[in-house]
Amino acid sequence: MKASLFGASLSALALAFAAPMAQAGSAVDEQLNDYRQAAQSFGKTLKGELQAAMKSGGPTAAVEVCHERAPEIAADLSEETGFTLRRTSLKPRATKPTSWETAVLLDFEQQRAKGTAPADIEWHEVVEADGDKELRYMKAIGTDDVCLSCHGENVDPDLLAKIEKLYPEDQATGFKKGDIRGAFSIHAPLDD
Ligand code: HEC
Repeated sequence: MKASLFGASLSALALAFAAPMAQAGSAVDEQLNDYRQAAQSFGKTLKGELQAAMKSGGPTAAVEVCHERAPEIAADLSEETGFTLRRTSLKPRATKPTSWETAVLLDFEQQRAKGTAPADIEWHEVVEADGDKELRYMKAIGTDDVCLSCHGENVDPDLLAKIEKLYPEDQATGFKKGDIRGAFSIHAPLDD
């Protein structure tokens, strides 16, 4: 009994000392893990719906899925998590990057050029504005075979016409497998 009480107070003491140091790092780490999960579930949900639509109606039907569902999934996840979540690209179809997103995407391209796989490329930064801290995060999205029918070098002319009707300023073609197609971009006030 005595021993366990002693043990308990010792670990309480250890916690009291450890807590301030652990917190500084872990608030960011915990929120980053939530961001990573949100990005992953965005990608997974969209890819699942995209593949199902490609199978049942081909790329022309799947364009509708990307057009309608991508923004909806992002909005649902943003509401669910409280984070601002979207996808963007240096060659956007729908979502132009902000200036800080552009800088990060350019850095991602350099990492890719040095041979890093898109799946391993991510970035984060804590930014302070008016005394409030914001945690910004981006994660590269690679180009797979399944992406090429709508983002590749030889998009079917009918499909391209449909894409250009929906997105008159489309720049998101000409990609090759393994290229960085874009990135998830997430930001929110830092919880501390
Ligand atoms: C059936 C056609 C189609 C396929 C296949 C497709 N996309 Fe897209 N993609 C689109 C459309 C349409 C948009 C615009 C969505 C919107 O309005 O938000 C888009 C937008 C994007 C964006 C957002 C940035 C931007 O350019 O606006 C990324 C990133 C992206 N696609 C990645 C991919 C990846 C990675 C794959 C393969 C896993 C893929 N896409 C497969 C049609 C497609």
